[in-house]
Amino acid sequence: MKYKYKCIDEKEILDIYKSDPDFNSWYKIVRKILHSNEFQKRRLFKHHEFESVWHHSIVVSFNAYKYAKKNSLNEYNCAIAGLLHDFYTRAWQDSYELSELDDKYRIKFIKPTKEKVFEKHAFSHPIEALQNSRTYFKKYLNKDIENAIVTHMFPLSIFTKYKLPNNKTSFVITYIDKKVSMNVISSVKGILKYAGILNVGKELN
Ligand SMILES: [Fe+2]
Ligand SMILES: [Fe+2]
Repeated sequence: MKYKYKCIDEKEILDIYKSDPDFNSWYKIVRKILHSNEFQKRRLFKHHEFESVWHHSIVVSFNAYKYAKKNSLNEYNCAIAGLLHDFYTRAWQDSYELSELDDKYRIKFIKPTKEKVFEKHAFSHPIEALQNSRTYFKKYLNKDIENAIVTHMFPLSIFTKYKLPNNKTSFVITYIDKKVSMNVISSVKGILKYAGILNVGKELN
């Protein structure tokens, strides 16, 4: 598969999953979003230092889909919510790769503002991801998927107006997101990074 944007990841995640027996049925659900120009830009967004938001979102989507299939839950909801849960606009970690994009993606670094605690990335990015998903992929959404996106940082979501996960898709996404991030949240520093409080990617400004 050829993409417009070069991935910052060492390995192309779709090539890794291609041989999985569930790949084709998952891919049919997410194909159009994956190939859209806007979603591909996440190949240039750093996520937890060593992988892209593109990579991470695919990992969450595919694993949530498999979990749903195994447990007779809504496979479509889990695939879409997993893919869009981190579809925020303003990159959280800066990188040279982002200079390929419009400045709006780097706005936090170009015009840094003092954020209050509850405006920090951990609390704001799920809400931004929902708004952005509605802008670009509205026809793929439903109420359960929208709730899964805005509450995926549960229990931190209780400090936002969306509060709690309210359906099974939401619980699957918040669980899988943490499960696949275990390598990151195995230390105090890692937990702060996962929680969007400690930012290590400000090397450009
Ligand atoms: Fe997130
Ligand atoms: Fe995530």
